[in-house]
Amino acid sequence: GAPVEVDVSNIAPGNMITVEWRGKPVWIMHRTDAQLAGLKTHENELADPQSDRPGFTPEFAKNEYRSREPELFVCVGICTHLGCSPSPAFEPGPQPGLPSDWAGGFFCPCHGSYFDLAGRVYSNKPAPDNLEVPPYIFSADGSHITIG
Ligand code: FES
Repeated sequence: GAPVEVDVSNIAPGNMITVEWRGKPVWIMHRTDAQLAGLKTHENELADPQSDRPGFTPEFAKNEYRSREPELFVCVGICTHLGCSPSPAFEPGPQPGLPSDWAGGFFCPCHGSYFDLAGRVYSNKPAPDNLEVPPYIFSADGSHITIG
């Protein structure tokens, strides 16, 4: 499939857009400072907190944010269990089906896996791996990314 260029300059903090790349949904989210801080609160609850496993995280995203720039998160929106599309669950705090220290993330309605705002899967859930970060680059002025 052809690379996909996306204008990311108008995604408000806390918002996410979905684009299609190679027939898959790709999420592009503008994380707030609070959401970035929330990534540090639950690493002991994650299956692969450093994204060490091969195949899901390109080298450029093997950092605490799983992204090129901390604010902008780019991720394939397909559950690593059986391929459902997880739903946004951005609101932090306790709520049914989620950990009591929930810092925001994504919930897969098919079998109850959940992922944080870096797409990292929580332990002991059906989904075995973190959500896939696709290859992407920024334009020189930072206003666009090209996926693929
Ligand atoms: Fe997501 Fe099974 S497909 S938990």
